[in-house]
Amino acid sequence: MSGTRQRCASCGHELAETDAQVRCPACHGLLEILHARPAVTGAALRARFDGRRVENAARDSGVWRFLEAVLPTAAREIVSYPEGNTPLLECPALARWTGLPRLLLKHEGLNPTGSFKDRGMTVAVTQARRVGATALACASTGNTGASLAAYAGLAGLPALVMVPQGQVALGKLAQTIAYGARTLLVRGNFDACLDLAEQARVRLGLYLLNSINPFRIEGQKTIVLELLQQLDWAAPDWIVLPAGNLGNTAACGKALAEARDWGLITDTPRLAAVQAAGAAPFAASFRERFARRHRVEPRTVASAINIGNPASYDRAVRAIRETNGVVTAVTDAEILEAKAVVDGAGVGCEPASAASVAGARQLLRDGVIGREQRVVAVLTGHLLKDPDSVTRYHQQADPRPAYANPPVEIGPTLGEVERVLRSRDAR
Ligand code: F0G
Repeated sequence: MSGTRQRCASCGHELAETDAQVRCPACHGLLEILHARPAVTGAALRARFDGRRVENAARDSGVWRFLEAVLPTAAREIVSYPEGNTPLLECPALARWTGLPRLLLKHEGLNPTGSFKDRGMTVAVTQARRVGATALACASTGNTGASLAAYAGLAGLPALVMVPQGQVALGKLAQTIAYGARTLLVRGNFDACLDLAEQARVRLGLYLLNSINPFRIEGQKTIVLELLQQLDWAAPDWIVLPAGNLGNTAACGKALAEARDWGLITDTPRLAAVQAAGAAPFAASFRERFARRHRVEPRTVASAINIGNPASYDRAVRAIRETNGVVTAVTDAEILEAKAVVDGAGVGCEPASAASVAGARQLLRDGVIGREQRVVAVLTGHLLKDPDSVTRYHQQADPRPAYANPPVEIGPTLGEVERVLRSRDAR
């Protein structure tokens, strides 16, 4: 046998690389994998590995790679993990569920703290350092706080995070506390937290890291730049994203305007901002051609976008207008079903992120998006951000959700395993 093979660590018996046995058929020992000696070794092999690495810290980051579009004057002060470099995934299960064969998923949940917020935070915390800020603060539905807590830790600066009590997903709260931010559970909703954070900025001299901070927007623009680069600068027809406080909608619009202005692309993708039906003031304004600004009392399971009075309203209106975009809303049931399909495809995301996928499906049904169009849906946060939403969905009994996959407790016997497998086949 040559090339890669399996060998028993106990008796040396060898098996083909594709042999499915997990123990040695001769002695029941454990197997190990052996590779052929590479054609080149030593310095030549080192050079080959090194050649696959990007060259310096700035280029390691999927944000700072776009320096000219982000913060051209930043240099030594950069605070970076690095972040970005998230995959653009094809996903047949989602193509089927949405009815969009050319759908792609930009998985921002794979950033260092598990959400797209890291792209804005690396830039804004870098800027905080440049202006000599001594204490950082934000209001958050969870992800911004987790990201700020981490980047403040990296920069060695204290951080204050205000979140609505009882409305923050477990993973996000755990991160914020663990990364060492002073965490305030505010008896009020996100909109009240943001009010409070602004007052704290003015009265207590804290450096504010919500997306009203324009440096956050500069970093978040790189979601769009990076996905365009991944498509070899051939613009998709649509970019679909979940929308809450509207910073991200504004950032994507600005990125597209600059990309066109600077000759990176010739065609501009249309933006589709998707809100949860229970927190959809922007969608209400869109239906009236933005004649007036709405404020609502928000209520959705997608806690990340449970926002009734979005701060970046004006600049998001501009983003939608300039890209000939649309705003829509999807129900919590649609969000949870989309999430279950995204999760079940092995991709995984948090509830708010699934709004983009549910929105893409709805816009196809409404005849706004065409079946053959290329659509990029942005998944903004990681599956593990909100584990409670997963257990609630999959263990709900009556009615049982369409994609429920409840775990089954059994005694340690083969008979019970067989019983469960048989009942599953019968489902
Ligand atoms: N998706 C996720 C996972 C989010 O955390 C957020 C916002 C959005 C989408 C919406 O982005 O606000 O720019 O329209 N989260 C903020 C936070 C509000 O505090 O973490 P947006």
